[in-house]
Amino acid sequence: MSKEITQAVSPFLEDVLEGLRARHKYLPSKYLYNEVGDGLFQQIMHTEEYYLTRKELAIFEEQQQQILKILGQHQPFRIIELGVGEIPDLKFDPYEGDYFEALSRISDSHERDVIFFLGSNIGNFPKEETASFLFRLQQFLNPADLLFMGIDLKKDPSRILAAYNDKQGITTSFNLNLLDRINKELGGDFNRELFLHYPYYNPQTGECRSYLISREDQNIRIGNEIIPIRAWEAIFMEVSKKYDEVQLLELAETAGFKPVTSFYDNEQWYANVVWEVKH
Ligand code: TRP
Repeated sequence: MSKEITQAVSPFLEDVLEGLRARHKYLPSKYLYNEVGDGLFQQIMHTEEYYLTRKELAIFEEQQQQILKILGQHQPFRIIELGVGEIPDLKFDPYEGDYFEALSRISDSHERDVIFFLGSNIGNFPKEETASFLFRLQQFLNPADLLFMGIDLKKDPSRILAAYNDKQGITTSFNLNLLDRINKELGGDFNRELFLHYPYYNPQTGECRSYLISREDQNIRIGNEIIPIRAWEAIFMEVSKKYDEVQLLELAETAGFKPVTSFYDNEQWYANVVWEVKH
């Protein structure tokens, strides 16, 4: 193995080993998005059960005038999207990197900045990082700037569970793909047949959590390490948190924001909230 490869791989290896040695095993969800993972995620967005993308698009399509009015208020503004920018035909300047590192490289503007953070991606942050991430974002903003954020809302739990458990099994493959990636990139020997995908929704916290559960006692080799996993032991993969109005207000408050308004789809399954910096 060349020196560069060893260096590039080691944070991944360290994170994986830390997660698998923990009392409650986990794998960091950011590693789900390699090329295969990105492709599977595109497929998830097209499944019948996965409503989030369609709901957000419907809000944009049906309420574009109202949205523009709030964001613009008769002034020009600049959109900064945190994410992958998938709107076809849109002309944009890409900045790659960690969110804050990229934000620090974007020049200050005399216009209002509107930060777009779509897809309910805020819901995928580990619980203890959500408010601190938004607080840091808030500190980057000028008083006139706005945050425009997509958030999936609490609803019939069976709809939520179904969105993370599609019949075709694409979400299952999406999660199992991380085991394949560990095998390929870190010299692991996971057998994906020995795991089942189990999503679980807690209607009080609003957390929908994905787990991979071992069907039997096994020893996983990763490089030179052996990780024992017991029968029915779970590996926590990712959270997709759903919010209600009270939780949203609490989040805005702790992160230093003040809610301005919200846009909803006609069933109130999803919201795009507009928040300003709390003075
Ligand atoms: N942020 C979206 C969500 O929480 C997209 C997403 C992230 C997702 N990880 C996922 C969708 C895993 C399905 C499965 O839903």
